Amino acid sequence: VAKTAFPNAADTDYANADLRSKAKQALVQVRNSLGKTYLPLINGEYVQTESTLDSVNPSNPTEIVGTIGQIDLSQADEAIAAAKAAFPAWRDTPVQERARILRKAAEIMESRRHELSAWTCLEVGKIIPQADAEVSEAIDFCRYYADEMERLEKGYNYDLAGETNRYFYQPRGIAVVISPWNFPLAIATGMTVAALATGNCTLLKPAAPSSVIAAKIAEILVEAGIPKGAFQYVPGKGSTVGNHLVQHPDVHLIAFTGSQEVGCHIYAEAAKLQPGQKHLKRVIAEMGGKNGIIIDESADLDQAVAGVVYSAFGYTGQKCSACSRVVVLEPAYDAFVQRLIEATKSLNIGSAENPSTTVGPVVDEKARDRVLQYIEQGKQESTLALELPIPDTGYFVSPTLFTDVSPNATIAQEEIFGPVVAIIKAKTFEEALDIANGTNYALTGGLYSRTPSHIEQAYKRFEVGNLYINRTITGAIVSRQPFGGFKLSGVGSKAGGPDYLLQFLEPRHVTENI
Ligand code: NAD
Ligand code: ALA
Repeated sequence: VAKTAFPNAADTDYANADLRSKAKQALVQVRNSLGKTYLPLINGEYVQTESTLDSVNPSNPTEIVGTIGQIDLSQADEAIAAAKAAFPAWRDTPVQERARILRKAAEIMESRRHELSAWTCLEVGKIIPQADAEVSEAIDFCRYYADEMERLEKGYNYDLAGETNRYFYQPRGIAVVISPWNFPLAIATGMTVAALATGNCTLLKPAAPSSVIAAKIAEILVEAGIPKGAFQYVPGKGSTVGNHLVQHPDVHLIAFTGSQEVGCHIYAEAAKLQPGQKHLKRVIAEMGGKNGIIIDESADLDQAVAGVVYSAFGYTGQKCSACSRVVVLEPAYDAFVQRLIEATKSLNIGSAENPSTTVGPVVDEKARDRVLQYIEQGKQESTLALELPIPDTGYFVSPTLFTDVSPNATIAQEEIFGPVVAIIKAKTFEEALDIANGTNYALTGGLYSRTPSHIEQAYKRFEVGNLYINRTITGAIVSRQPFGGFKLSGVGSKAGGPDYLLQFLEPRHVTENI
């Protein structure tokens, strides 16, 4: 049923010279603020830590973006205790007040848009226009979840004569948000504000490479008026501090976005009843993808080539939604491959802050080495069709195309999380769908076709959480394209969609005989 469209925040129009100049100034200002120390926020205080971690610029790793205090296990326990103490007041804070704080946070983000994009660009190597789209998404999450909680607060009324029947929602308690580095602002904000809007006391444990941006989220929430203990910023090592928070008996909910390996581990750990624990934990785990685009013989190849290039190489292939497999029907195969090679050659690989760059670095050395290993594996199992020169410094990997890839090859099955595309040939559309569906993942998928029967079959049979027809497969917009997958891509309702907040709430029902 159509409803009034949610008013999404607008991205910056960089064709406007004034806005371009503001973005440039923000980069200079942020560059002048590099190297500061960011401390965890526990019970309303920024606290000292025994250990720290440097977060560096992936385009130029000698540049320290910030130094982040890392909490230890006893500080994790202090944060949980503070959340527990703050819970009754936050639970009982009127929904309108919680929503007001989140809308204020959105306003602050809008006023700091260029600065936040600059931090994202320098800390995780995302080019400015894509970093800017993340600011819009983070703003949308704040406003959308505020609206959604006001809708849900009304509950349901099933009254009969002589009996009231009221169905309503209450917060679960303490939420731990464990975020990834690849959408450091949007995803960390989205999970955090969903937990806060619903009245849960929330701890944000960011991924190490994006801890400075997470510190900015903390700053903004504090400025917006979040009470102490209701929100805490708890940077620390995933395998120790993250694991400890997941296992803690006082935690009710874990909202995780990250790799399949860590997501499955968290799911299993959270299921274990700890001594003293009187509830089962709810886990929302959004995980990886091995997303395919099918191109049939009727596709508009101009559109398909541009769509694959953007979907595969945008943010250097480091989006869970990125295209990493292209399944092409035989009649279109040679022409498509040739044109894709030419289009990929036109990409500009370089420092993320350079306005002409289209493909920046990968996030760190570990990521670079992992992607390079997959490229070596690809060379063993298929035909290398394109590799490009890359800068000497920084964590760069070439956009890489492999052709004649077997559907079962490692590079066609495992999430590489880099700019590597496996191109697979199919004889029929049915075979193309089987190949596209033939992985453990079900996150995004795409189809380029002008054949109505193929589009109809894809609707029914393409097993992905988000299917895109005749367009790019990344860049879901809050409320317009609620986002999330199934199979081993995750468990939970779609972010930015109408069911998302329900996961953070306990439904209750009261019948009164009158
Ligand atoms: P990751 O799994 O390595 O880390 C994610 C988070 O988990 C980090 O904060 C990390 O510190 C923490 N962590 C690590 N080990 C832990 C443990 N044992 N217990 C608790 N926490 C632990 O993922 P990443 O490299 O940050 O992000 C990339 C991955 O995220 C990719 O697989 C990508 O597909 C996925 N992703 C999915 C979505 C989606 O919506 N489905 C969106 C973005 C990213
Ligand atoms: N929501 C992000 C996208 O759609 C991951 O690209």
